[in-house]
Amino acid sequence: MPLRSSIGRWTLLIVHLFLPLVSTSAAPSYDESSVPAYTLPDVLRVPGEDRRISTVEDWERIARPALLAAFSTHVYGHTPRVRVTTTTSDDSSQPILGGKALLRQTRLHFHHADRKASVDLALILPATASPARPAPLIIGLNFWGNHTISSDPAFRMAAPAPGMETRERGSMNRRWPLESLVEQGYAVLTAFRGDVAPDNPTHYRSGVLSLFPDNTGPSRMGAIGAWSWTLSRLADHAGTLPEIDSTRISVIGHSRLGKAALWAAAQDTRFVRVFANNSGCMGGALSRREFGETVAIITRNFPYWFAPRLADYAERVNELPIDQHQLIALIAPRLVHIGAAQQDLWADPRGELLALRAAAPAYALYGIATELPDQLPPADATPLGTVLRFHLRTGRHDILAADWQAYLTPPGSRPTSRPPR
Ligand code: GCU
Repeated sequence: MPLRSSIGRWTLLIVHLFLPLVSTSAAPSYDESSVPAYTLPDVLRVPGEDRRISTVEDWERIARPALLAAFSTHVYGHTPRVRVTTTTSDDSSQPILGGKALLRQTRLHFHHADRKASVDLALILPATASPARPAPLIIGLNFWGNHTISSDPAFRMAAPAPGMETRERGSMNRRWPLESLVEQGYAVLTAFRGDVAPDNPTHYRSGVLSLFPDNTGPSRMGAIGAWSWTLSRLADHAGTLPEIDSTRISVIGHSRLGKAALWAAAQDTRFVRVFANNSGCMGGALSRREFGETVAIITRNFPYWFAPRLADYAERVNELPIDQHQLIALIAPRLVHIGAAQQDLWADPRGELLALRAAAPAYALYGIATELPDQLPPADATPLGTVLRFHLRTGRHDILAADWQAYLTPPGSRPTSRPPR
């Protein structure tokens, strides 16, 4: 064997054995002192250009579209801008929660070219809502099926999604404090993420993504793009309901669905408030901190959530043309509330607070002053902020009644002493 090629082989072997030890994709870090030095992209600079904007008009006309394009190209994939027609079937209504609300279940069908997909919706409408007194709405996908958010057998069982386990009726009640929401006058519209895009690397295209055969290439949208797209379709549907106040639609999501909620609100200005719960990496947390889950880790474990191009940045996160504070900035001047949990270091609570803080210049363009600290507040305290809001809850990665209570606490008021049921 020629000497050169045997040296080459040894080098290759050594690189293979030791690269994982030096690469950032190795173990996650939870040590604040090992957060690397980083510089965030300037929120007011147009990505890919030297130009820095200073007016709302230029923000909306130049910077916002460029930022949306950058997030589409490098992170979530391009949302197809095609006309999809929707029809509904299986509409049924029945009283729930002892008559405090009406459960309306509808199947939403999407048609595009000769393709079809459908999603089952559950709308929980306060009995007090009427066309004369339309209710504010909270839209959010659920993890395990509409039947898991309540023990009431009126909620239809979700069809099993390919490649996903099934969960029992009522098993996610803790995440959906419906009675308390209805008592506060909110309507809730939800659908199962598995109906929309099964959360599985082999099957994720079998839901709404099957409508878009041209969704290909390194910037194609993955499951998060599909979930976000569908959140907007739920807003379309809400716009047809006279008992819903379509000027007061909030979007909520926990964890991977929190990432989707932020991306939906960034693209769709009908969402006047977004509640991103424990959304972490590629949600509310800064990527450049490499604290907890990193771009390297998430693209290795969940490549199908994103545009394939995101994986190019696994080992060079500082070259990403954007960071997550700019996703939040895209939502300006609307309300963004990030909820973190004290033990959920994987999602980097401090990285989320810092991303919110760093989005401030976009809000300042609209004359909205924001004041957020750069250190985490005490857990379970009144949420910080007014338009850019943050709370830290004690406990683990989850969305609980205490989180909903924080999201619905009007800015400047004290939380009620009794947590919602
Ligand atoms: C995993 C993943 C996170 C995600 C979370 C969830 O932990 O790494 O990015 O937010 O699942 O959706 O619960």
